[in-house]
Amino acid sequence: MSDKPFLTDVQELRRRARQHIQDGAVTEGYRGDRDTVIRILNEALATEIVCVLRYKRHYFMAQGIHADPIAAEFLTHANEEQGHADQIAGRIVQLGGSPNFNPEGMLTRSHSEYVEGQTLIDMIKEDLVAERVAIDSYTEMVRYIGENDITTRRMLEGILAVEEEHANDLSSFLADLDKDWKTRDRSAG
Ligand SMILES: [Fe+2]
Ligand SMILES: [Fe+2]
Repeated sequence: MSDKPFLTDVQELRRRARQHIQDGAVTEGYRGDRDTVIRILNEALATEIVCVLRYKRHYFMAQGIHADPIAAEFLTHANEEQGHADQIAGRIVQLGGSPNFNPEGMLTRSHSEYVEGQTLIDMIKEDLVAERVAIDSYTEMVRYIGENDITTRRMLEGILAVEEEHANDLSSFLADLDKDWKTRDRSAG
């Protein structure tokens, strides 16, 4: 048992909350390196925006007999990446930073690339590569943040789980297309 009465702890918490009130949600209990956390969140924001743009392009360009369900999935992913971008931008502001939406340098800040892809298969492959990059970089961010900023870590863990679902969706499409073509080759030959 601590020799400090519980009430004193509450008063101490209240006193600390009143100090540095301009820091908003960031209290003295925040253990993260705020500048670094904001910088990596801005890189994640750029990554998400590049992913929105790539999925949108793929949604509008998807053509062929298999295209409809795949295009619909591209659109769903685009919307989910937009949701991630919004969550991240909101957290950057909570941490006292400013979200970087400047198109200049967006691709340099982004971890994933913007590749247009010529065929449906190319598009799916490029998206899968980008998702795998996102999975790795979110995993690294979660590990880096550890116990130092629990809210940011939980947000990133939630996003990471969705990126894993995205990668899984795309690899099932690839497997289906592959199976379908093998069947058609056999019936043709
Ligand atoms: Fe995302
Ligand atoms: Fe994703």
